[in-house]
Amino acid sequence: MSRKKITVVGAGHVGATAAMWLALKELGDVVMLDIVEGVPQGKSLDLMEAAPVEGFDSKVTGTNDYKDTAGSDLVVITAGIPRKPGMSRADLINTNTGILKSVVEGIVKHSPKTILLIVTNPLDVMVYAAWKYSGLPSARVMGLSGALDGARLRAFIAMELGVSVEDVHAMVIGGHADEMVPLKRYSTVSGIPVTQLIPADRLDAIMARTKKAGGEIVGLLKTGSAYYAPSAAVVEMAEAILKDKKRVIPCASYCDGQYGVKGMFIGVPTVLGSLGAEKILEIELDAAERAAFEASVAAVRGLINELKF
Ligand code: APR
Repeated sequence: MSRKKITVVGAGHVGATAAMWLALKELGDVVMLDIVEGVPQGKSLDLMEAAPVEGFDSKVTGTNDYKDTAGSDLVVITAGIPRKPGMSRADLINTNTGILKSVVEGIVKHSPKTILLIVTNPLDVMVYAAWKYSGLPSARVMGLSGALDGARLRAFIAMELGVSVEDVHAMVIGGHADEMVPLKRYSTVSGIPVTQLIPADRLDAIMARTKKAGGEIVGLLKTGSAYYAPSAAVVEMAEAILKDKKRVIPCASYCDGQYGVKGMFIGVPTVLGSLGAEKILEIELDAAERAAFEASVAAVRGLINELKF
C-alpha cells in the first residue's frame, strides 16, 4: 500500500506542529507549503533530522510551489494572518479570504480529488469561502472547530475532577467563536453525564472558560495564538479521514437542512471517513441549546453575507 500524501499550507505555528504530529504518527508523507521562501524547507529538513530519533519513516518536504503538492489526499490549510490591533473583523476577513483564494486555487489545480481541512480564522466563514473557491463537493471541505473546542472542554473537565482525560468526552457545536455552544448534557466521564459529577455553578464556569479558551491563550502568549491543541485536533481529524475510521467528531460541516440550517458550514457532530464529512448526526437540543445554536448560526451567516466573491 502506498503512503497517503498530506499537504499542510502555512508552515507557521499550527502548520509546522501539525506536520510534526502527522509525521510522528506516520499518517503519510507530508508536504509543507508556505509563501515565505526557506521556512517550509528549513522546518521540514529539521523534522527529517528528528526522524531517526523518533523512528518515523514519513517523508517531510518543504516547498513554495503548488506543483509539489500534486496528488494530495488531504490538505490542511492554516495560511492566513492573525487579527492585528486596529484591524476590523471585516479587514481580517478580506485579507484571509484573499489568501485562501490563491491557496485553494493552487491546491485544487494539482489535487482535484483532495479533501480540504480549513484551520484559518474566522473559521466558519473561511470554510465557506474555501468551498466556494474550490468547486469541490461540500463533503470534501470542512473546518477545525469542535475537535479543538471539545478538547479544551475535556481538558477542563478532567482538571476539575482529577480524572483521566481519556475517560472524558465532550461535545461543542456551533461556530468556532465566542458564540460556540458547549453541550453539558452531552459531555460525559466514562458515560456518566458531567451534570451528575460537577456542581452546576462550577460547570457553568467551565463552559464559559471553554468559550473563551482561545482568547485565554492569546492573553498569555501576547504575541500569537494557540497551536499545540489546534494542531493536535487537526491531526485527530486527519487520522479519521486518512484511515477511514468513521469517527464522530464535531467540525464545521456543510449543512443541507440538518439542524434547520441550509447552505452553510457550522460545527455539528460529523462522521469523518475517507469521503470526508460523510454524514451529520442530528442530536436532540433543548430550547436553550437550540436558541444558543441558532444565535451562533446567525453570527456566522452575518459574516458570510459580508463576503465578496
Ligand atoms: N500562502 C501560503 N502561506 C501563507 C500565505 C499564503 N498566501 N499567507 C500567509 N502564509 C503563511 C505565513 O507565512 C505563516 O507561515 O501562513 C503561516 C501562518 O502561520 P502563523 O502566523 O504562525 O499562524 P498560526 O498560529 O499557525 O495560525 C494560523 O490558524 O488557528 C488559526 O487563527 C489562526 O488563522 C490562523 C491560522
